[in-house]
Amino acid sequence: MEVDLPIGVFDSGVGGLTVFAQVRKLLPAEDIIYFGDTKRVPYGPRPHAVIQQFTREILDFMSHNRVKLAIAACNTITVNLNRLPQEYSFPIVGMSKGARTALALTKNKCIGVLATDATIESGKHAAEIQALDDKVKIYPQACHKFASLVEAEQFSGEAIESAAKEYLIPLREAGVDTVILACTHYPFLIPLIRRVLGPQVKLLNPAKETARTAQLILTQRGLLQNKRLGYSRLCFSADVERAKRIASHLLDVTTYEFTEINLK
Ligand code: DGL
Repeated sequence: MEVDLPIGVFDSGVGGLTVFAQVRKLLPAEDIIYFGDTKRVPYGPRPHAVIQQFTREILDFMSHNRVKLAIAACNTITVNLNRLPQEYSFPIVGMSKGARTALALTKNKCIGVLATDATIESGKHAAEIQALDDKVKIYPQACHKFASLVEAEQFSGEAIESAAKEYLIPLREAGVDTVILACTHYPFLIPLIRRVLGPQVKLLNPAKETARTAQLILTQRGLLQNKRLGYSRLCFSADVERAKRIASHLLDVTTYEFTEINLK
């Protein structure tokens, strides 16, 4: 039965694990297949056509695994999806932009957006927030090095400290009181980001709202599983051991299956 089919969750690498963790918590009965393209990460500096082609290959993999719904646990992929979802028979949920939540959190109407080059270039977060409130000032900040440093397990040390100062001090000086983590790799850096921005700045991770959107769609379509405990298969295109070490920051990795998958 369709209700018994798995959910797909995918990202350019390990970042989507921050979304997987929320989906796993909210939907314990669902089977989940995670795919992280650790061989080709980062996607952020790549042109639109390449991001689309890689995304198509991942969605074909999900289709082959007969998922009933897929979650693009990556903002860079989400802002580049365009018409791709129309090519697949299952619904595809993109990352929430967190616009309403950010507007509810901000007191001074100064909101920062941290994301990859491709996501910032798309301007989609700023557009969605300003469509709801045109008095808000948005401070977009492309964090070119963050995702690669997370992939390289550099959660502390000289390289990540200096990147954090480069990206975050301008936001602190601009006086933002709310910052959207618009790249799924960045929740791994929350302690560092909080330390540089200061405790008064609210950090918004839209992973939970994204998981809730998936839950709503499954409910509306009568596809929500609730009978049993779901399994999780975590697939990566390279370096499974590294991915597993990074995953262990968030998850009890002993309970999940980790596999290397070649997309082509
Ligand atoms: N995790 C991805 C995102 O949410 C991007 C990292 C990358 O591949 O550049 O935007």
